[in-house]
Amino acid sequence: MSAATVRIAPSLLGVDFAKLTDQLAMIEAGGADWLHIDVMDGVFVPNLTFGAKIIETCARATKLPLDVHLMVVEPEKYLESFAKAGASVLTIHAEAAPHLHRQLAVIKELGCQAGVALNPATPLEGVREVAADLDLLLVMTVNPGFGGQAFIPASLDKIRRARALLDAARSRAVLEVDGGIARETIAACWRAGADTFVAGNAVFGAADPAAEVRALRARCAESA
Ligand code: DX5
Ligand code: ZN
Repeated sequence: MSAATVRIAPSLLGVDFAKLTDQLAMIEAGGADWLHIDVMDGVFVPNLTFGAKIIETCARATKLPLDVHLMVVEPEKYLESFAKAGASVLTIHAEAAPHLHRQLAVIKELGCQAGVALNPATPLEGVREVAADLDLLLVMTVNPGFGGQAFIPASLDKIRRARALLDAARSRAVLEVDGGIARETIAACWRAGADTFVAGNAVFGAADPAAEVRALRARCAESA
């Protein structure tokens, strides 16, 4: 693997909203690849966050592609409005979408990249039959709902198996990890086969978010 394929996706959940424009400019200056946006409905996860209006605000405030992670029940209700608001990637949870094959097709028809996320307790088996249809597979490395949680160490083995599953399906899907990604955890995830790294607290909790984006990328390059 080459370090050129590392993608760093700072999470909007870690932003101080009073400084939204400044903080987005900082991560752009640091070379961030995507902006990760966590949509939570208070039902699928015990927290509430953003909707289409905030996605639209971010689309105007940054040039970064918007990587939208839907932690909601009935995600199909929101796909069209989020696509119109400017989402580049729409990732739905397998646990909330029994008709994954259909939903992935809908996302692509809307002109977005189609992703599926798996909670820590959800086996990879749930995406095997749609592996070839995925643009992105998101392996959650914490239980979704909140930023700032500790990385679950058992995730590393799941990342390795996810990489093998995608390779076996000849899938070119991005393999993203989300939750507790920081200087201490990112390199092991990269070595396990992940290429795209969501980081909320690590980036926006740092004194210098731009430097932190660079530091996270460097950790992968150093361990390649
Ligand atoms: C958690 C969200 C994450 C969150 C990660 O449910 O899906 O994207 O922002 O935050 P950190 O990097 O602080 O664990
Ligand atoms: Zn997320």
